[in-house]
Amino acid sequence: MGEMTIRLSINGEIHELTVPAEKTLMELLREDLELTGTKCGCDTGECGSCTVLVDGKPARSCLVLAAEAGAKEITTIEGLGSDEELHPVQRAFIEHQAIQCGFCSPGMILTAKAFLDENPSPTREDVRRGLGGNICRCTGYQKIVEAVIAAAEILRGEGS
Ligand code: FES
Ligand code: FES
Repeated sequence: MGEMTIRLSINGEIHELTVPAEKTLMELLREDLELTGTKCGCDTGECGSCTVLVDGKPARSCLVLAAEAGAKEITTIEGLGSDEELHPVQRAFIEHQAIQCGFCSPGMILTAKAFLDENPSPTREDVRRGLGGNICRCTGYQKIVEAVIAAAEILRGEGS
């Protein structure tokens, strides 16, 4: 297939890179930009650990060609919140112990962020459904659901 030069907007910064045409967005993030918060669990679109936001919507970066992401705004976990202030979803995951090994957490948190953008007042069942495509091998999901409900309250201005 050959190489292509692409311009990508990632976490608000423009990057111009020359990459093999078949390179996935996940590979580009991890290998070329060292944004290793994006995890590779399956490489086949099944686990959700590679989820990033593309124009604010969750996408499995192992299924997206880097070249396809050219005109889009990509957000990885490194671009959510800041060193000084975590995003409320990140904070809630920590406070509710929804992170154990942490492998699923970046994808889970970005999926939860996009989910709450669409559905600011979810039930626990809504959260389970909304995050149903993201696999966690550690937590049993209960604490993740609690964290997302708590984050929703904070984002609605009701929590602490
Ligand atoms: Fe992409 Fe599992 S690594 S969905
Ligand atoms: Fe280990 Fe979810 S915290 S896979």
